[in-house]
Amino acid sequence: MEDRIVDQEADANEFSYELSLRPQKLTQYIGQEKVKSNLEIFIEAAKIREETLDHVLLYGPPGLGKTTLAAIIANEMGVNIRTTAGPAIERPGDLAAILSALQPGDVLFIDEIHRLPRAVEEVLYPAMEDFCLDIVIGKGPSARSVRIDLPPFTLVGATTRAGSLSAPLRDRFGVLSRLEYYTVEQLKQIIIRTADILNTEIDHEAADEIARRSRGTPRIANRLLRRVRDFAQVKGDGLINTRLAAHALELMQVDRLGLDHIDHKLLKGIIERFKGGPVGLETIAATVGEESHTIEDVYEPYLLQIGFLQRTPRGRIATDLVYKHFNIEVPHKA
Ligand SMILES: Nc1ncnc2c1ncn2[C@@H]1O[C@H](COP(=O)(O)OP(=O)(O)O)[C@@H](O)[C@H]1O
Ligand SMILES: [Mg+2]
Repeated sequence: MEDRIVDQEADANEFSYELSLRPQKLTQYIGQEKVKSNLEIFIEAAKIREETLDHVLLYGPPGLGKTTLAAIIANEMGVNIRTTAGPAIERPGDLAAILSALQPGDVLFIDEIHRLPRAVEEVLYPAMEDFCLDIVIGKGPSARSVRIDLPPFTLVGATTRAGSLSAPLRDRFGVLSRLEYYTVEQLKQIIIRTADILNTEIDHEAADEIARRSRGTPRIANRLLRRVRDFAQVKGDGLINTRLAAHALELMQVDRLGLDHIDHKLLKGIIERFKGGPVGLETIAATVGEESHTIEDVYEPYLLQIGFLQRTPRGRIATDLVYKHFNIEVPHKA
């Protein structure tokens, strides 16, 4: 498989790292101050009332810490977490089985919740609202509906696209938290924390250099750090300094803004083949050779965030910043 810096999910060899690098408590979770302080209050209040926490929807681009936060919520509530994902639940019965196996107070984490089939979603409504299941027994005129009580639980849903969630589902979450891209300073803290866990020496300037190229995303920061660390062990004396970090990142084709070769292909495609746009998403996807949802969920949000792309009703436009970044003269506009 191709070597990727920007990705939707953690890859297999990252999985064990992800577990050990994940903060366990809200106080260890860096950044997202607004989300954290709200959750802190809701968690505290639920504990005082000895109730379950209200259902929480976490949304935002991949790698910003949704799964991590779901685990922290369960940990702070002192309950177990049961994890599944939208595409894994194919039939209403699958969800009914998961729900009826929950212990009182448990957190049920559904990743990619926007990908739940509609029929499955409908099982969730009464479960979220009244902690019960409506099950239809029999077929045709003799069919009847039976209500089964469920233990009280907290649903934590995660999605990269809150817009794709149906309104009835979205409305049943009491807490909606949107995760934001991290600042360089916050990423630097994350990198230093991770280096410490990995027993790697890194100087502050090098941490800063990696942070700047991490696309506001902790998963990418940790991924870059691990690759630079490999580099430092093989080519250097193990210590990560700025020169070594910059050199390793150059070799990985991560530019000074953290853009990789796919971003480059995408942006250059728009300016070279479409005079800066507007270009439709499908056309961009075809130019780059990626699925359009990958472009929309994984690549585009950061390019929009740094002001390289604009979304218009007629398609995406590359801004002057793109021309500057590639040292290409901005064309005169009519
Ligand atoms: N706020 C944070 N502080 C420290 N590390 C974080 C934070 N958010 C995410 N991470 C790290 O980034 C990695 C990716 O986070 P994850 O929760 O899997 O993202 P998502 O589920 O949103 O795709 C995790 O392994 C975790 O170590
Ligand atoms: Mg996740």
